[in-house]
Amino acid sequence: MEYIKSKDIFLLVRDILKMIHPRPMEHGSRVAYMVYKMLQEEGRYEEFELADITMVATFHDIGVYKTERGRINDMLRYESRDSMAHSIYGYLFLKYLSPVPDLAKVIMYHHRDYEQLLKSDYPYKNIAAYINIAEKMDIYSASMGSQFDLHMFQKQAGTKVSAAGLDRFYQCEAKYGMLEKIQSGEYKEELDYIADFMIFSNEDKKKFLEMLMYCMGFTSESMVVDAITAVCICEEIAQKMMLSEPEKEILYYGTLIHDIGMLAIPREIIEAPRKLEPEEIKLLRTHVDIAGKQLAERMSSEVVNIALAHHERGDGSGYPLHLRDHQMNMLQRILQVSDVVSALVNKRSYRNALPKDKVITILNDEVSKKRLKKQVVNILVSSYDTVMKRVREESAEILKMYQTLNLQYEQVSKKYKI
Ligand SMILES: [Fe+2]
Ligand SMILES: [Fe+2]
Ligand SMILES: [Fe+2]
Repeated sequence: MEYIKSKDIFLLVRDILKMIHPRPMEHGSRVAYMVYKMLQEEGRYEEFELADITMVATFHDIGVYKTERGRINDMLRYESRDSMAHSIYGYLFLKYLSPVPDLAKVIMYHHRDYEQLLKSDYPYKNIAAYINIAEKMDIYSASMGSQFDLHMFQKQAGTKVSAAGLDRFYQCEAKYGMLEKIQSGEYKEELDYIADFMIFSNEDKKKFLEMLMYCMGFTSESMVVDAITAVCICEEIAQKMMLSEPEKEILYYGTLIHDIGMLAIPREIIEAPRKLEPEEIKLLRTHVDIAGKQLAERMSSEVVNIALAHHERGDGSGYPLHLRDHQMNMLQRILQVSDVVSALVNKRSYRNALPKDKVITILNDEVSKKRLKKQVVNILVSSYDTVMKRVREESAEILKMYQTLNLQYEQVSKKYKI
């Protein structure tokens, strides 16, 4: 069963990242368009290859969400002088967490001087060189306005930038008027056209959705741990309840993406080491509607309905729709319990992780108020130790890649004194 189309996966990741900050993705889209036109003109690639490259070019600055947090607007700095950090983090992120690890080095090399790049035997180095040219054109044409000269990088041809790449750029600019199309917004249609050629296997789509979950770590790493814990608890409960394979799959996807709307919420609120003010709670709660807007018409409604009901409660006291027990299905009820438990057993900025007896007391209390589903809570409580042991093991396994990535980044950062 197809829960999401390939193109929609791409659009979803792009638009969710835009919620953290729109600039890197808007710049990424413009760069992707220019790179697409240059490669199309070169005539060596099939449409589906161009589509994959366009996707990676769009995400070429994904690393800034982690490394430049709080100073994303200072683009000129991290795109010229201090470009190492985001290039490395972006590379590691795509290498470990995306289904396109082969293209990840494009990100690593996108700021590298062409002379250096030539020494590498990486097969996609020309794409990195094209991204480098396209991003220079985008940044400088926007910041210099009428002072911008298309040939301002000519002096660097063959040393810092690719001479052949520059020629290709001039040729495409003369033929297609790329910069003007960027200004008018017309380029978006062509990007949209090539995105139609994206073809991802089900396994790749799963990986992209997992990558999307890891994107929550750009705002708060504890959100990644929470999401993985919830996924694992759901899996254990689903197993014990003997759900069918399609039901397990729907639950898995719904759980994976249930909190992606949190990426639109300021970090200060998510990680506030105190009780939130009523206004802040109101803002925090908008994460469900925000996710709803992003997911609607992109993912199958069965999956979306699971994700969007994770804060609903059986007595109608939940949000955003105040649904009641009889209006919800068992999968939604399983995620509600798993989400509560994952919040309780993980550390918060304002409290430690809660011990078993406290968790069980809270769950039983919620059942007595008819907020959480009794059947689901009973299954969890009756085998709490074994379930939680497996959850800890499974989540450690899933988190391994993410932790490897962060560790490698730290090591590289130290080595290069970033
Ligand atoms: Fe960059
Ligand atoms: Fe860039
Ligand atoms: Fe939530």
